[in-house]
Amino acid sequence: MGLKLQRRQSIRVPAVDQKMSAVMRAESWMDTSFLQSLSAGLVGIPPFDSLWLRVQKRGKRSLIDFACQKLQIRSFADLGGVWGVDGEYTLYAMEAHNVKNACLVDIGFTEAVVQKQKEYPTLKLIRGNFGDPEIARQIGVVDAVILFDVLLHQVNPNWDRILELYAPRTGCFLIFNPQYTATESTVRLLDLGEEEYFRNIPHSKAEETYREVFEKMYEIHPRPQYQQRRIYRDIHDIWQWGIVDRDLVEKMKSLGFSMRYARSHGKFNHLPNFENRAFAFCK
Ligand SMILES: C[S@@+](CC[C@H](N)C(=O)[O-])C[C@H]1O[C@@H](n2cnc3c(N)ncnc32)[C@H](O)[C@@H]1O
Repeated sequence: MGLKLQRRQSIRVPAVDQKMSAVMRAESWMDTSFLQSLSAGLVGIPPFDSLWLRVQKRGKRSLIDFACQKLQIRSFADLGGVWGVDGEYTLYAMEAHNVKNACLVDIGFTEAVVQKQKEYPTLKLIRGNFGDPEIARQIGVVDAVILFDVLLHQVNPNWDRILELYAPRTGCFLIFNPQYTATESTVRLLDLGEEEYFRNIPHSKAEETYREVFEKMYEIHPRPQYQQRRIYRDIHDIWQWGIVDRDLVEKMKSLGFSMRYARSHGKFNHLPNFENRAFAFCK
């Protein structure tokens, strides 16, 4: 019980749509079960080091289960579904829920994804920047747009513009994102300054991707996929945003979407200021 009390006290609740139904309330993270609280409480204890990742993966699957079972999702586009997971959530939705009409979009595909696609002829792979309106046009209209661990990386167009771009093309957004809990408003993490930036994110300056970001902030990044059009400050390979719940919920509301699901799944990799949260917003 002590754990549960502690957890509830640490959660910031956004201003949720007044019309939130009983189902939505039942799915809210305010109703975090004792078991969920227990697993979140265990995160950080050394023998359970990777538990946070398992909690995160389970949370993403639960959101897909909810969308397919309760919202009757029959088509989707998984934006940025490749790195580290090789399209795992796309394939889960297709296999576990028999969704045929699926689209996986990323700036690059691994060999594993290309091979897997051969087993799923109805799975469409689209290579490119999903912030590009031409890529959005290629996706067309889908029941759900999946944004798992990608919104925090989106700059030019920024995370809120990505939501605007896809709002007319979908009835539902499934969002799983490390949400920022240290401030009232969303922050551009690089603007915190170098020391605070690295104190907040799960990467160090010693890592290749992060090594030169502060030194070359306004220089063009050489990565071929960026086609010489992106400065270091704007690349989506790095952590960019600390998005707070209130700003996300308000943005969705302004686009005509209301919250149908909201759950918290514990800290992101023991970071003090980021918590994994899952949302479904529907028209
Ligand atoms: C942190 S990984 C998340 C992977 C997966 N969705 C998950 O839940 O684990 C981010 C992925 O999104 C892709 N990505 C990020 N921004 C993108 C953009 N604007 N256009 C295309 N791909 C993007 C990256 O290439 C990478 O594969």
